[in-house]
Amino acid sequence: MYKFGLIGYPVQHSLSPWIHEKFLEQAGLSGTYSLIEIKPDNFSEEIAQLKASDMNGFNVTVPYKEKIIPYLDEIDEDAKAMGAVNTVLNKDGKWIGFNTDGKGYVRSLQHAYPQIFSNKARERLLLLGGGGAARGIYYALVTEGFQRVDIANRTIASAASIKSLTEEKKQTDTQILTLSEAEEALDQYSVVIQTTSVGMNPNSEESIISVERLKAETIVSDIVYQPIKTKLLTKSHDRGANIHFGHTM
Ligand code: ATR
Repeated sequence: MYKFGLIGYPVQHSLSPWIHEKFLEQAGLSGTYSLIEIKPDNFSEEIAQLKASDMNGFNVTVPYKEKIIPYLDEIDEDAKAMGAVNTVLNKDGKWIGFNTDGKGYVRSLQHAYPQIFSNKARERLLLLGGGGAARGIYYALVTEGFQRVDIANRTIASAASIKSLTEEKKQTDTQILTLSEAEEALDQYSVVIQTTSVGMNPNSEESIISVERLKAETIVSDIVYQPIKTKLLTKSHDRGANIHFGHTM
């Protein structure tokens, strides 16, 4: 009987128990997945209790993806480079941290549009945003072998810090853009990935950029899932783009 869970704050509306219990069922395993809400003031005490428990592993969400790191015994190379952990495995009492956020996204994109994975050096991709989600997705795309993944963000410094994540490991042609530069250059890209919360309910009328210059056939992906079809995706679809629901990460 496996025991898994999710730590974060707040977590009560998370779909993770439902999702992971389905995975257990599909894998023919028995186990539970619980929501463990930890208030920021109690973090170290509650983590000590968790460490003393027999939990087999847990996921980590906002605001603890960085804060969990000092409590780990080991950290996987990718999670270390990203400076964030979303999955902890308890291996014989040792906690090992991983980050599957970006990899999950890349797998979901590959499943929907395998053709862009056949010539990764040629495709031009644009990431919109410079937060935690953008970090994970950028790292995973570059690790996967995409060489030209440009980043546009309201705050240029955050986009530049994402670019520096992989600089030692991989050669890239990443350019950093403002959001209005991205809007102007939209016809240059084969894939556009929206990674911010812009367009999420209750602000579903908002869109991070205008898609007037978008070419038909471009793949436009949005990680927002409330609503599933954001304004950005609706407008892009109207222009003949192929859309991807990025929340399937
Ligand atoms: P997450 O970890 O979920 O990615 P985050 O770290 O808070 O969340 O990042 C949010 C991202 O959304 C950032 O890129 C932020 O832009 P800044 O880096 O300039 O802050 C972006 N964002 C949020 N609201 C925005 C808005 N109204 N317009 C443009 N970008 C916005």
